[in-house]
Amino acid sequence: MGQDGIRRGGLRPPPLATIEKSYYTSNVEKFYEAASRSYVLRRINLEIKRASSSSIMGPSGAGKSTLLSILGMLEARWTGEFEL
Ligand SMILES: Nc1ncnc2c1ncn2[C@@H]1O[C@H](COP(=O)(O)OP(=O)(O)OP(=O)(O)O)[C@@H](O)[C@H]1O
Ligand SMILES: [Mg+2]
Repeated sequence: MGQDGIRRGGLRPPPLATIEKSYYTSNVEKFYEAASRSYVLRRINLEIKRASSSSIMGPSGAGKSTLLSILGMLEARWTGEFEL
């Protein structure tokens, strides 16, 4: 109980050392619908471990920025799931 009478600490996240993954995606997909359905991302399954660094590489137009937008929760229309 704090001095202000409010109980704190009930919703603390687990200690960092117990978290193995920081990013995990499962079948993330994104497409644009024009004359036909055009996939920018298809079946993206990745795992980025806690406290590691990763790079996303690919030719221009491969979907790198689109993937980062999804992971940064800036994209509205996509399918699949990810845990942060
Ligand atoms: N509104 C849209 N309608 C249709 N296709 C789109 C639209 N916006 C983006 N795209 C396509 O999505 C694909 C992925 O684009 P993205 O910007 O994610 O690629 P990138 O790997 O980041 O490229 P770069 O290395 O040039 O930054 C591209 O082929 C692009 O043409
Ligand atoms: Mg880009």
